[in-house]
Order: sequence, then C-alpha cells, then structure tokens
Amino acid sequence: MSKSSQISGFYKLSIDERLKIVTDFSGLSEEEVNLLRAESSLKLEIADRMIENVIGVYPLPLGVATNFLINGKDYLIPMVIEEPSVVAAASHGAKMARVKGGFKALSTEPIMIGQVQVVKVPDPYGARMRLLEAKEEILAKANEQDPTLVKLGGGAKDLDVKVIDSIRGPMVILELHVDCKDAMGANIVNGMAEAVAPLVEKIAGGKVLLRILSNLAVKRLARAKAVVAKEAVGGEEVVDAILEAYAFALADPFRAATHNKGIMNGIVAVATATGNDTRAIEAGAHAYAARFGRYMPLSTWEKNADGDLVGTLEMPLAVGIVGGATRTHPIAKIALKILGVKTARELSEVMCSVGLAQNLAALKALATEGIQRGHMELHARNLAIAAGAVGDLVDKVAEQMVRERRISFDRAKQILQELTQKK
Ligand code: MEV
Repeated sequence: MSKSSQISGFYKLSIDERLKIVTDFSGLSEEEVNLLRAESSLKLEIADRMIENVIGVYPLPLGVATNFLINGKDYLIPMVIEEPSVVAAASHGAKMARVKGGFKALSTEPIMIGQVQVVKVPDPYGARMRLLEAKEEILAKANEQDPTLVKLGGGAKDLDVKVIDSIRGPMVILELHVDCKDAMGANIVNGMAEAVAPLVEKIAGGKVLLRILSNLAVKRLARAKAVVAKEAVGGEEVVDAILEAYAFALADPFRAATHNKGIMNGIVAVATATGNDTRAIEAGAHAYAARFGRYMPLSTWEKNADGDLVGTLEMPLAVGIVGGATRTHPIAKIALKILGVKTARELSEVMCSVGLAQNLAALKALATEGIQRGHMELHARNLAIAAGAVGDLVDKVAEQMVRERRISFDRAKQILQELTQKK
C-alpha cells in the first residue's frame, strides 16, 4: 500500500515521533536515523574534503513538510532553512492544493548550456557559419570528455552560435547544449566547454576566452500547476484577494522580488537539504524572472470557470541527484532517500511544486491575516521554551501570549510561573 504524506498534527509530535513516521514512510535504516539524531552528522574529515580551509561545520535545522501530492504520488519534503514558518507554510500550501488532487508537474530534458566566448574574430558572421558547419566535429570533441554520460544517453546534443555586440566590439559565442541526465552538470559542461575551446578557436579564428556554463538554464525548466478549491483557501473573497496580490507583483518589480523570494524559500530549502547548488538555482530563477526585459513574478495566478484558484510556476531548475554534495554529504543522501526521487527531473518537479505551495501559502496569509500571526505563534513557542516551559505548557504559555498580543521573554516567564503555581 502506498503511504500518505497527509499527516495531521505532525508539528505537535516530538522529534522522535516525527522521525519514526519519516522512517516508516521512507524506509530509513537505523544508521540513517542515528545520523539524523546526531548533533553533528557532518564529520570534520568529510567537511574538509568538501571545501577548502575548513575549521568547523555549521548545522541548520532539517524539517519535513507534509501533505505533498505531486503527479499522484505522496512525498515528504526535507527542508533545511534557518527561517521559522517556511516548513509550516509549505505544508499548509500543499494541504490546500491537495483538495483538488495536489500538483501536476512537468520538466524538460535536463539540458544545460555551456558558453565559449571568442573575441577578436575578423569575420564574426563567417565564423558563425564555419562553427555551425563543424557542429558534429565539435560535439564529438565535447563528448570525448564523458563517455559514461554518453553511454547513459546524455552528453552534448546540439550547439548554437550567436554574434553579440559588446562594449569591446562583436563577439562570437558558441553554446553547447548538454544533456546532463541526473547530474546538475556544472563540472560536465565546464569540462566540455574547455575541451572544445582549441578546436573552436581554430575554426572561428580570433581568441577563446571564457568557457563556462550558463546558470540561465532555459533548456532545463520545471513546471508545476495546482488547482486550489476556493473553499480550501477560504472562499471567493480570498481567491480575489490573492489575485490582487498577484496583480501587484506583476505590475511592480519591488513586490515581484518579494513574491519570488517566497517561492525561493521553499526551493532553496529543498536544494540545501539535498546538497544542491543553491546559488546556481537562485541565479537562474532571477535571470529567468527578468527574461522579458522586466523583472516579473515566476508564478501565475488566475481563476477558472468554477471560481477556483489556478496557480502555475515555471522556472529553470538545474538540480542533480548524483555528484557533488548530493553524494558526499551524509544528510543530503538521507534527504534524497526521504524524497524517494528516482531522477534529477523528478527532483526538479518536486521542487517546483514546493515553490508553488510556498507561494500559495504566503499569498493567502498576506491577503488575509498577514504573515506576522504565524511568525508570532512560532516565536511565542520559542520564547515559552526559552522561559523553561515543557510539555503542554509550551503551547499554553505561547497561546496566552498570542491572545494577549504580549509576546516577550519576560511575559513568558510570568505566565509560566502563574500556570505552574496554579498546578
Ligand atoms: C518571507 O520569507 C516570504 C514572504 O515575504 C513572501 C511574500 O511576500 O510573498 C512572505
């Protein structure tokens, strides 16, 4: 029987109880559970192999978002983030979307673009033609770099050549289109771009300078869609308020930046949990948001004939499930196991759905009670714990502070004292 990610009151359980549910859902081993429970699961010797000049490790909380139904499959979503409310908001967004079947997600083939810059070409347009004519030879050279990837059906598949105007005069830019399969692909693409450079230089004339992938991964897109029942968001008025919020983002880049930041809250948290390159994803997302010459929201929101909310999100998502930290970081490996994704494309579809859920929850909160209430509840709980509350006293102290709208460490201590004296 397939398991459901719809788990009510997950947030109220203890860490051990949650871990037990995730273990049953994902089939984690005892060793993996112990790693998750360890205060520092990233050993210094592994950290030392990941980057340079290591002096320690920097732990962050790993949470799990619930309720995600994507293409008919249930997922628990591991998220690593320092910001309160993000995991709760993702779960809430997924819960609202679930009423009408959750998320439908798609992705393109995992094609990355590698750029080779040629300067000082006497005849840029002639060079463009010569490079295009030599396409097969250049692709073969690129593919010599990675026979394993080619065997798996990936590798350099195509190329394009453009002539751009720059402040230093015209430049010829050759772009390799590389199918990276389950890898993010930066190393693969950079290796290929460097490998073809001498040949490109010979054919084009001029001088090759930069050989590097582009993070504007327009050929590696993920798409997610959700139909959200109007009752699930709180009725017709809330649907209309969310549409006003979206219209604001569409008309104003200042709002669009924050709208997209909300989407990236979810996407970056999953990227971090799975050991993916968050900066590459951010760079691609924001460049994509500005692809029409003006910075725009990455998602769209509209109302269908039944008055339900329809949300879509399309963005580049260059993520991998092999290579890099996805395999060296012990927790990243566990996060991938919790997700149960089989391909990088599936991971990108899940992440895109998480981004859309995050956006939905933020817009709903902003268009109704505002986001401070949710933040304050969590903040109040943290203060209650800091003041010494344990068990159900945590919720009692926090609830009273929220009710009174007096949320402070001192007030938490007072309430705790009153409640314990009463006992
Ligand atoms: C906060 O981290 C994210 C939001 O600002 C997103 C948004 O405004 O849409 C709530």
